[in-house]
Amino acid sequence: MTAEQFIIDDRENNLFRVNREAFTSEDVLQRERKEIFGKTWLYVGHESEIPGKNDFQTRDVGGRPVIFNRDRHGDVRVLLNTCLHRGSSVCRHSSGNAKIFTCFYHGWAYRNSGELVNVPGNEDYKSEPAAVYKGLQSPAQVDSYRGLYFVNFDPDAPDLLTFLGEARYFIDLAADQSPEGVAILEGTHKYSLKANWKLLVENSIDGYHAKSVHHTHFEMMMELGATPPMLGKDTVNGIAPAGMGTEFPNGHATLMYPANGLPLATDSVKQTLAGLRAQAEQAFGENYANAMFGLARNSVFFPSLILIDLSFGLTLRTFYPVSASETLVTGWQIIPKGVDEEFVKYRIDNALTFWGPAGLATPDDVEALEQAQKGFGARGEVGWSDVSKGMGKPVPAANDELQMRSWWREWNRRITGEQLPTEGTSFVPFDKQGVDA
Ligand code: FES
Ligand SMILES: [Fe+2]
Repeated sequence: MTAEQFIIDDRENNLFRVNREAFTSEDVLQRERKEIFGKTWLYVGHESEIPGKNDFQTRDVGGRPVIFNRDRHGDVRVLLNTCLHRGSSVCRHSSGNAKIFTCFYHGWAYRNSGELVNVPGNEDYKSEPAAVYKGLQSPAQVDSYRGLYFVNFDPDAPDLLTFLGEARYFIDLAADQSPEGVAILEGTHKYSLKANWKLLVENSIDGYHAKSVHHTHFEMMMELGATPPMLGKDTVNGIAPAGMGTEFPNGHATLMYPANGLPLATDSVKQTLAGLRAQAEQAFGENYANAMFGLARNSVFFPSLILIDLSFGLTLRTFYPVSASETLVTGWQIIPKGVDEEFVKYRIDNALTFWGPAGLATPDDVEALEQAQKGFGARGEVGWSDVSKGMGKPVPAANDELQMRSWWREWNRRITGEQLPTEGTSFVPFDKQGVDA
């Protein structure tokens, strides 16, 4: 083993291991900042979060502070939130509406399309700052898909659609849930955990841990007469209860399994969902509507955008490393547009009681990941993690680990340059009538 070897991908013995050094080394993190967060498409926000002219949200994207906003003409922008004078933030609010961003340090002012328009004491400069510096910088590439905005700091990176490839089908399954489209519920969950960001990537697409870590939730569901995920009898579009895992080029992956149960949903909430499903069936056909409303889906879009649809909630999550052992998470709930107040309340309740940092699911996950990070203290003695489950099966189940291996192979390619073949599993998207799927 060389110091460079981070994964062991042994096809003969169906063994896949990850070097625990990858989760603890600050040197690895520096390489990730350059090769991953500097060169891939990173999620910044959804268009519904800045509905009107001059609306803005500030975000941290891959370690860069940005303003995600609409300018005075209503065009979406992403501006780097750093003053050209000496670096201070030009916008210190998390969201709002502003035509001008004024740096609080010495007062340089920028229009919300970026141009530098006022410099106090401008007459003291021999070369005018506005002419020299022009305006706030933007990431090299900004693009969107179905209302989701992404940035890429690498001007030479392939475009967003090429990068997402077939995996974008899972964004469609979320975005098509209402004829009017979808929106982000106001309010975000922000929390940090003392664990490496890649542990949260694994966890977000890990069907194996559900039964042990989330047994409280499972017990609650069973008390309410619902069947916990991956344990039922129903198949949906030919997908068995245990579900299936998928791999896509560029490290994206999804696991899916029949959705089961709407904990604490009222009849009205169930009716709203049934109505949306009927509309989808008419627009796109039965297969696609079944996939949309009958299958639960956990997707990762490389490197760290997660979209999880469990029918009772549809959550979007992204996270970036603070250090090798700390990660900052932001989570949102998505709702189909045009639903009634009661449905919105159900989703808000769900966001708080299940997905949120004090909900039924997240604290258990955080605890498991922080324990793992602590365990890596013994990496000198126990140096490798195992990600082999289901390897070699023609169709790995949702509680196997194909999706993580797919992600790790892309991570490895970007960090070491070593290109490893996929496992060759294939996924045929459920046909979407009348639309080019
Ligand atoms: S740092 Fe912004 S005006 Fe000086
Ligand atoms: Fe979990």
